Amino acid sequence: MKVLVIHGPNLNMLGKREPEIYGTFSLNEVNKKMTALASELKIKLSIMQSNSEAGIIGKIQEMDYDALIINPAAYTHTSIAIRDAISATGKPVIEVHISNIHKREEFRRKSYIAEVATGQISGFGADSYLLALRAAKNIRSR
Ligand code: DQA
Repeated sequence: MKVLVIHGPNLNMLGKREPEIYGTFSLNEVNKKMTALASELKIKLSIMQSNSEAGIIGKIQEMDYDALIINPAAYTHTSIAIRDAISATGKPVIEVHISNIHKREEFRRKSYIAEVATGQISGFGADSYLLALRAAKNIRSR
């Protein structure tokens, strides 16, 4: 099984960026934890980070994976284009957030992605990604 992981804008700044909200771990540390769990679960992982909507959409369109784990970051709340790209894949998609977007500012409560995702994991820090990987292992195509 192949899983694509996409980290959206500003997630390259993890560890330095608002640590009281996003924690002190770096993106590299998240990726290492995911890589270790993936090998345990016998999942082939491909990981990318992009600050651009076009970069994220291009990667989604490659369709070279069985399931997608995506933290669209701020694009969660704004991007109909990413939503449409996800919708077009027909693949299982897990939306991930480090913070709990439902108990933050009002504008973060709206996710354009949730409506086309298989499910959403939000609020468990770096563990959100590991939970998503376990979920990906168990879900079938929509
Ligand atoms: C985030 C939540 C978003 O609202 C925010 O814009 C992010 C990160 C999270 O992982 O908690 O950049 O997706």
